[in-house]
Amino acid sequence: MAQESKSSFDRKWWKEAVVYQIYPRSFKDTDGDGVGDLKGIISKLDYIKSLGVDVVWLNPIYGSPNADNGYDISDYQAIMKEFGTMEDFDTLLKGMHERGLKLVMDLVVNHSSDEHKWFQESRKSRDNPYRDYYHWWPAEKGKPAFRPGAFEADGSGWRYDKQTDSYYLHYFSYKQPDLNWENPKLRQEIFAMMNWWFKKGIDGFRMDVIPFIAKDTTFPVITQEELNKDYHGRWDIYMASGPHLHDYLKEMNKEVLSKYDCMALAEGAGMIKETALNFVDPDRKELDMGYHFEGTNLGYIPGYFKKMNPNWSLVEFKKIYSDWDAVYAKKGWGTIYLGNHDQPRMTSRWGNDSPQFRVLSSKLLTTFLLTMRGTPYYYNGDEIGMVNAKFDKIDDYRDIETLAEYEKVKNAGGDLKQFIEDQKTGGARDNGRTPFQWDATKNGGFSNGNPWLKVNDNYSYLNAKVQDKDPNSNLNYFRKMTRLRKSNLALIYGKYTLLDKENPNVYAYTRELNGKKLLILLNFTSKNAKVNTDVSIKNAKVLINNYTTVSKSTELRPYEAIVYELK
Ligand code: NOJ
Repeated sequence: MAQESKSSFDRKWWKEAVVYQIYPRSFKDTDGDGVGDLKGIISKLDYIKSLGVDVVWLNPIYGSPNADNGYDISDYQAIMKEFGTMEDFDTLLKGMHERGLKLVMDLVVNHSSDEHKWFQESRKSRDNPYRDYYHWWPAEKGKPAFRPGAFEADGSGWRYDKQTDSYYLHYFSYKQPDLNWENPKLRQEIFAMMNWWFKKGIDGFRMDVIPFIAKDTTFPVITQEELNKDYHGRWDIYMASGPHLHDYLKEMNKEVLSKYDCMALAEGAGMIKETALNFVDPDRKELDMGYHFEGTNLGYIPGYFKKMNPNWSLVEFKKIYSDWDAVYAKKGWGTIYLGNHDQPRMTSRWGNDSPQFRVLSSKLLTTFLLTMRGTPYYYNGDEIGMVNAKFDKIDDYRDIETLAEYEKVKNAGGDLKQFIEDQKTGGARDNGRTPFQWDATKNGGFSNGNPWLKVNDNYSYLNAKVQDKDPNSNLNYFRKMTRLRKSNLALIYGKYTLLDKENPNVYAYTRELNGKKLLILLNFTSKNAKVNTDVSIKNAKVLINNYTTVSKSTELRPYEAIVYELK
């Protein structure tokens, strides 16, 4: 890396990192209860290190009754019983730091669990000292104006609580009441808790739905029609832009983040291009990066629950990622991801999971993720090319969101069979949450017990052990790609230029820094496809190719991915 000038960009470790996301519940179970645990992650630290990643983001591991798999926290300073103990956590953190890996925790502070002691107190009486830790609406004022409750079959974000004859707000399930950030005491509690984790030595936070924390507490009327205007009910306008949002983020930066060499990532629900820099412009001293939903929402058919249009447009896909790159062209920093615990498997969704193209298309997507500008967030299991669970029965699903959506369809007298079919290719989150496939033994080596979610049957041939030995496997391709990114600063900081914009089959772009120029060609289809560009590849050097034979042609083979260094 040393040969390139440092003057043209502001280098930071979190810009140069590849982040590996671990869904602890499904990673590795060591005590046979069918649920992954911290000891399981500890046992796999050498594997994680071998991937060439730098940062691990763990989904929530705090005390939780698990209505939403840990996104409903009842104790922010404890470890979830199923996952282990604080001692296990300390061992994990130490083991990571010894290997040069950093640890990023999930911060879920838009809401807590209704079993958190704050809420238990808050609901007791209208004059309880914790009353204002949450948003309450006294019933004598009539019904509050509609707000969406994402994981409720009736769609409502308010729940009536008899004890004090009031409604409380919950943007997700009724088990996840929204915290009242307008209350300075609440903010101080949160900042103290964050400082406590930083003092333990963690390296950053991924902040769950952080744009939602601030609210207009007059709760003005929003009609259902307005909310329906796009797939996400105009999150950007109605939920993600509370009047004091940026005051709170600045305060968080001052009270917490500025004191450490850490990274802060916003889950950018409702984050739009026009205002994204307000979160991450370094001069504003708020957060470091955010991840938007425009890319992963592409191709969903309006009016259905995450039903995917199989003919989504690559031209639109390219436009989304190019436009977002432009947002951070001069300032701020972006991210890039295709999979996470809220998404179906990237290979099933954006590639092709048929036996013929699974391996190739998965490598193609890995090439895309590791050659774009912005920090890549790579989801566990994608390195071995895991695919959607495609459950046939609603009983196999565990996710609160899918179950609520199923209820909605049922209550409306809709087509339940079709709903199940749609989830196989579409958005059911359990598609991406099935246990990690370590080897060909029982339950893919994930657990000796009864896994909390069914293991994908394909584990007998699709697993990390088999792939570790195969030089052409997805796993070893991912390792090569992390090395390639690390050894080419142009892939991290280099200028991104889209080529052959209207080509419906090929995604082509260059990355350029200090005289070094790389060309990336990705054929997103199952047919041969030609790229039309005057960039000459005649003297170019192939840095990586997802086929075992190199063709060096402008006609790409199905799902072919190539990275060239141009001469
Ligand atoms: C976003 C998280 O990624 C998702 O898993 C969770 O259900 C919601 N926020 C609510 O916390």
